[in-house]
Amino acid sequence: MAVLEILHYPDSRLRNKAQPVKHVDDNLRRQVEDMYETLYESQGVGLAATQVDIHLRLFVIDVSETRDQRQCVINPEIISKEGTQYELEGCLSATGAYDRVERALKVRVRGTDLDGNVLEFDAEGLKAACVQHEMDHLNGILFVDHLSRLKQERYRKKVSKLMAVKE
Ligand code: NI
Repeated sequence: MAVLEILHYPDSRLRNKAQPVKHVDDNLRRQVEDMYETLYESQGVGLAATQVDIHLRLFVIDVSETRDQRQCVINPEIISKEGTQYELEGCLSATGAYDRVERALKVRVRGTDLDGNVLEFDAEGLKAACVQHEMDHLNGILFVDHLSRLKQERYRKKVSKLMAVKE
């Protein structure tokens, strides 16, 4: 297993729209193992394939405090939504940005697991926000895109300053 490199805003590869997974092979299984390792190493709650430069429709999540409720959803779809919440979000690809984003409070998710079995489950609260956040990544959308123009501009400036310091 290996910890993968995470792409960071404003990397244009984060804007790619991921393609459906056609079949799961050993290579993809290895990549998913690496994604879990990367998720736990970075202490995140979710990681979409797009963030590690794999442009396929899948994500891994674990919103548990015990870090033992890992789940991989392949070709995820949200089939119903209910309510509204404003969970505080951050992103492994958007260092230093934390803000509240409007999301559905409850979602019903459908996809498949690594063995090709149909997965269907309800998520609420943090897990629901996380699923919606990861699905955005697969469509090339970052949570900062949901913020006001002013906040986006501030974040863009903050990141370009940080990048200038690094060079
Ligand atoms: Ni993210």
